[in-house]
Amino acid sequence: MPVCGLSRLLAQRIVCARVTGVDLILVWDENRAVACERVCPHEQADLSLGYLSAGRLFCPRHVASFDLRNGRISMGWPSRPLRIYPTRIDGDQVLIDVAAIRPPAV
Ligand code: FES
Repeated sequence: MPVCGLSRLLAQRIVCARVTGVDLILVWDENRAVACERVCPHEQADLSLGYLSAGRLFCPRHVASFDLRNGRISMGWPSRPLRIYPTRIDGDQVLIDVAAIRPPAV
């Protein structure tokens, strides 16, 4: 499913999206697109307000960071990993595998 134009992602580096009821962010870092959940799994900060550096997404609240390859949080923080979702690029579109996205529990 297309969720964002590649040129927009290259310009903004962090883009918000909502897919099947789940709030996500797309990020561009180290020459690849990564999709992940928007809400920080530590204490629910908005990760779209964070920043990227060297393959990591830094949370704006506590400045813990997540490895964008596997979602692991930086050492010492009590949190599950960040959920990462598969993406691919087709022309100027970034696509997400919708089947991999789990809607929030109700
Ligand atoms: S809320 Fe994101 S690291 Fe604490």
